Amino acid sequence: MIIAGFDGSAAAKAAVEWAADDALRMGMPLRIVHAVDRWPYQIAALPVQEWPDTMARAGEKLLADAEAIARARQPAVAVDTRLVQGAPAAVLLEAGGEAAEVVVGSRGLGGFAGMLLGSVSMHVAGQARCPVVVIRGAQGPVRGEIVVGVEDTPNCVPALAYAFEQAKLRGSMLRALHAWQLPVHLYSPGFVYDMDDIRNRQLKVVAETIAACRKEYPDVKVVEDVRQAHPVEALTEASAVADLVVVGSHGRNALERSLLGSVSRGALHHARCPVAVVPTA
Ligand SMILES: Nc1ncnc2c1ncn2[C@@H]1O[C@H](COP(=O)(O)OP(=O)(O)OP(=O)(O)O)[C@@H](O)[C@H]1O
Ligand SMILES: [Mg+2]
Repeated sequence: MIIAGFDGSAAAKAAVEWAADDALRMGMPLRIVHAVDRWPYQIAALPVQEWPDTMARAGEKLLADAEAIARARQPAVAVDTRLVQGAPAAVLLEAGGEAAEVVVGSRGLGGFAGMLLGSVSMHVAGQARCPVVVIRGAQGPVRGEIVVGVEDTPNCVPALAYAFEQAKLRGSMLRALHAWQLPVHLYSPGFVYDMDDIRNRQLKVVAETIAACRKEYPDVKVVEDVRQAHPVEALTEASAVADLVVVGSHGRNALERSLLGSVSRGALHHARCPVAVVPTA
């Protein structure tokens, strides 16, 4: 089952549409979840007793709208809805426990104007046990390309598997992107680098890291792409002409498991297309 989190915002509408499309691709039902968090309103000055009913009614209305959006988008997909009481991130994480995928908008109804990523999407992407797809806005034209960030660590294997599967389902090309930089302290006079040699070594690492997936998905056309740049910069650039960017939730420097890795976080902030964050093993 695919779960979409809905709060009535424009990004959440786009998330429901994306989730309906993916449910069709994956042959799964779609469940739209709206969390009603009573706690922020339990303030002494407000007539608390009347809130729950009003909020539940508003929530049901929101969910009816979301269901209509999904049905209009993909009539063949089975859709249901759930109104759940609790903090949105906790509710979506719980729902995601049994799901194949959770889809949310990058922003919601809260936050401030210039904010790039809401707290709910950030928490869910960092902590879910299943892939989390974060949608920025309505879908643009289909580009026929999926981008996956490749790093020389087993941490990125689940992300690779997800990316190959998406590329196969869509008949898209897969760009296996690895970005690398010289450590800052090595930019000193006297050090001379053979850049072609470094590039060839990096390409070899990419080829070795994705070898098992290539064997499993022989029909997916892959481009191995090595760039000398910051990974977030490279992924952002590649996202401009892609349908989806796929990253692992944590990279090689997975110091703090509860937080999202810095590259995944950067991609979520800056990518110009949907981003799938896939939990590391
Ligand atoms: N109450 C909710 N129920 C279900 N899904 C939600 C709820 N709130 C947010 N979401 C999901 O999370 C996405 C991002 O919203 P989020 O709340 O993180 O951003 P925000 O409202 O802009 O910022 P914040 O709430 O952190 O101030 C939404 O597009 C929606 O998919
Ligand atoms: Mg919010």
